[in-house]
Amino acid sequence: MKKISLALTSLALALSAGTAVANCDSGERVVKFSHVTGGTTHPKVVAANNFADRVNKEMNGKLCVEVFPNSTLFGDSKELEALLLGDVQLLAPSLSKFGSYTDKYGVFDLPFIFKDMDHAIRFTKTPEGKKLLLEMDEYAGFVGLGYWMSGMKYFSANKPLLVPSDAEGMKFRVQTSDVAKQMIAAMDASPQAMAFSEVYGALQTGVVDGQENTWSNIYTKKFYEVQDSVTETNHQLLAYLFMTSSEFLSSLPAADRAQFIQIADDVTQEANLNVKAAEAANRANILKAGGKINTLTPAQRQEWVDTMKPVWSQFERYIGKDLIDAAAGA
Ligand code: LMR
Repeated sequence: MKKISLALTSLALALSAGTAVANCDSGERVVKFSHVTGGTTHPKVVAANNFADRVNKEMNGKLCVEVFPNSTLFGDSKELEALLLGDVQLLAPSLSKFGSYTDKYGVFDLPFIFKDMDHAIRFTKTPEGKKLLLEMDEYAGFVGLGYWMSGMKYFSANKPLLVPSDAEGMKFRVQTSDVAKQMIAAMDASPQAMAFSEVYGALQTGVVDGQENTWSNIYTKKFYEVQDSVTETNHQLLAYLFMTSSEFLSSLPAADRAQFIQIADDVTQEANLNVKAAEAANRANILKAGGKINTLTPAQRQEWVDTMKPVWSQFERYIGKDLIDAAAGA
C-alpha cells in the first residue's frame, strides 16, 4: 500500500514536471534522457518528449526512452559526468556548459554574433557547424545528434537595464561559460556561475541581482516573479547540444542505430521549426502573468553592442578566427 502511494506520488510529480512517463516493457532497453528545463511550453521539454514518443512508438520492443526534466535525475553540474559513466544516455545541455571539454563552443556564446535564431541555424548547417557536433567524440566520447535552438537571451533585473551602465556594480547569474563571464565584466558588473536549478532562489534571496535567459526559461521558471522586469537586449544565443555517448551509440545494432539517428534528425528539424513560435508564446505568457518587458531604442541597443563585442578578441585564439568568421558570416 505504502509502495503504491509512493509510486502514485512520483507519477503525479513526474506529470506535473512535464515528464514523458514511459511504460517500458521488460524486454526493452531503457534509455534515460535527463535535462534541466521544466514546464510544458518549453522548446526543450517539447522536443525531448517528442523524441521519446517517436522512439517508443517506432522502436517499440527494442528501446524505451524515459525523460527526466527539471534536473530531477541530474542537474547541470552532474549530467555530463553521468553520461561519461553511462548512468544516462541522452542529454541536451546548453552549449555554454562545455567549457571543461572544449573552447570551441565559445563561438555560440559570443555576444551579438548571431542576428537571430535563423542565423544560428544557418551556421549549424555549414561544414564548420556540423564538424562541431563531434568535437568532443575522440577524447570524451560525446556525440552531438543535433543542435536544438532555445532562443535569444534577455537580461532581467529589479530595474530596467536600458544601457550597459545601468548594470554597473550588479551581480548576474551566468552559466559556466568564460565568454559569459567576460561579457558581464565588460558591463562593469560581476558574473556568478550557478546551476540552472538554483537561479530562482538566488534571485529571490538577492544572492544575485539579475540573470540572462530566453523567454521560455524566464516564463517556465517564473523568474519574472522575482525580477521587476526583463529588457529585450537580444544579446546572445541559447542553444543546446542534443547528445549521447559513442559508447551507447555503438552498442546499438547498425539498423537500430540508423533508425535512432534518423528520428533524432527529424525531431531536431521539427524543434528548430517550432522554436520561434514557442519563444513568442512564452514572451506573451510572461506579460499575461504580470511580468514587465522593456524594449530598446536603436541607440540603446548600439551601446550594448559597443560594450560587449570587444569580448570577441579575448577568445579569438581559443575559438579560432576561422570558426568565428564562419559563424558571423553564415
Ligand atoms: C541555463 O542554465 O540558464 C540554461 O542553459 C538552462 C537550459 O537548459 O535552458
